[in-house]
Amino acid sequence: MSAHLTTNQLEAFWLPFTPNTEFKRNPRILARAEGMYYFDQDGRRVLDGAAGLWCANAGHCRKPIADAIAKAAATLDFAPTFQFGHPAAFEAAARIAALAPGDLNHVFFTNSGSESTDTAVKIAVAWHRARGEATRTMIIGRERAYHGVGMAGISAGGIGNNRKWFGSLGFRADHLSATYNRAEQAFTNGQPEWGAHLADELEKIIALHDASAIAAVIVEPMAGSTGVLPPPKGYLEKLRAITAKHGILLIFDEVITGFGRLGAAFAAERFGVTPDLLTFAKGVTSGAAPMGGVLVDKRIYEQFMTGPDHAIDMFHGYTYSGHPLAAAAACATLDLYRDEGLFERAKELEVYFGEAAHSLKGKPGVADIRNIGLAAAIDLDPIAGAPGKRGFEVMKHLFFERDLMLRVAGDTLAFSPPLIVEKAHIDEMFGKLGEALAA
Ligand SMILES: Cc1ncc(COP(=O)(O)O)c(C=O)c1O
Repeated sequence: MSAHLTTNQLEAFWLPFTPNTEFKRNPRILARAEGMYYFDQDGRRVLDGAAGLWCANAGHCRKPIADAIAKAAATLDFAPTFQFGHPAAFEAAARIAALAPGDLNHVFFTNSGSESTDTAVKIAVAWHRARGEATRTMIIGRERAYHGVGMAGISAGGIGNNRKWFGSLGFRADHLSATYNRAEQAFTNGQPEWGAHLADELEKIIALHDASAIAAVIVEPMAGSTGVLPPPKGYLEKLRAITAKHGILLIFDEVITGFGRLGAAFAAERFGVTPDLLTFAKGVTSGAAPMGGVLVDKRIYEQFMTGPDHAIDMFHGYTYSGHPLAAAAACATLDLYRDEGLFERAKELEVYFGEAAHSLKGKPGVADIRNIGLAAAIDLDPIAGAPGKRGFEVMKHLFFERDLMLRVAGDTLAFSPPLIVEKAHIDEMFGKLGEALAA
C-alpha cells in the first residue's frame, strides 16, 4: 500500500454510517494501532478514546491475540460448523458460557452484533413455536435502542433513521419509552434514581397486543450507541419480573456491555438480573476478528434437543459461525482479560473515570454528562437548525487538532476507552475535550 491513499483510491469503498463525500475530501485514515493508540499514515499518534468502536477492550494489536490468529490461519484456516466442528469453537463457547451468569450455558456463534440480534430473536420465536405457542412472534424493543442493522435489529431498534428509510421491512414490533429524561436525570453519575416506573409500560404494551402475541423483550442493559444511558435503578429488575410473569423471553443485548465495559464480564452480572438470551460481539475478540454470538439459557436449548437423531434442531446459522480464526482470537482475548484482570481494572477505574467526565460540567455547550463503568457520554447543545453538526465538528477537531479519537452520535460524544487505559490517559482525554470546548 502506498504511504497515502489518493482521492481515486478512496472512491470505491462506500463507508458505513459515514457522510462519504465529506470523508473523502478530508479522510480520517487509521493505518496502524498499538495499545491505547492509533497512528495515521504519517505516523501521527492518536489516543483511542473509543476502543475503536466499543471493541478493543484489551487494547490494540495485542501479541497473544495476533499470534493466536496467525497460528489458526496456518493450522486450520476454515472448517464448517454445519454438521462438523473444530476444537477452538468448542473451547471458546465453553469459556464464554463459564463467564455468564445463571443457566446461560450454550453459545450460538455469529459474526457480528446485528447477526446476534437476528439470531436471538429467531431462537425466541422458534422456542415458543416448539412449545406450541406459534402466535408469539412480536418483539418489544425500546426507543433510542440500537441492536444493529439486521431485520430484527431495525425492528426492535428505536433510532428513527435506522428504521424509516427501509419502509415496513422486518419483524412486528412495539417499543417501550427510552429511559432518559434530562429534567429528572441531568448530570447523574451512574444509575439514575428516576425512571424505574418506565418499565411498567410493558404491562400496557402486553395488554394491548396480548402476551400470546409477544415472543421477547430486547433491551441493552445500558443503551450505548444512543449515548450511554445507564438503566434507572430498579428498571431491569422490573422488566425481568414482568416478562417472567407473562411467559415472554428477556433478551439482553450486551454487544457493548459484554466483556468488561461495566466492570464485570456481563452487565447481567453487574446489575444482578439474568436474561433468557444474551447477545455479544465486539469485545469477545477485542475486535481483532469478527465474532458475535448468543448465550442461551439451558431450558431453551434443551427444548430444541428433543428431535430424532438425523433431524437438524435449529434451522439457522452462518458459514462463519465459530470461524477458526475468530475462535482462536476469542480464546486468546479471554486469556488476556483473565490474566491482566481487565474487568476488575474497569471496575477500579470507574470512580476516577466518572469524576473526570463530570469535571466537564459547566464547560461551554455541555448540556449533560452520563457515565457508568468505563463508558461516558457528553451531550453538547446543538447548533440551532443543524442537529448533529456541533458533535461532528468537535469529533473532527479532536481527531485532527488534538490527536484524540472519540465516537460521535448526533451531538453526543462517547468515551469508551480500552480497559487497559491509565489514569493519565483518562486525564488527557477529558482534558482535551475540555480545552476544545473552551476554545
Ligand atoms: C448494542 C448493540 N447491538 C448490536 C450492535 C451491532 O453490532 P454490529 O455492528 O457488529 O452488527 C451494536 C453495534 O454497535 C450495538 O451497540
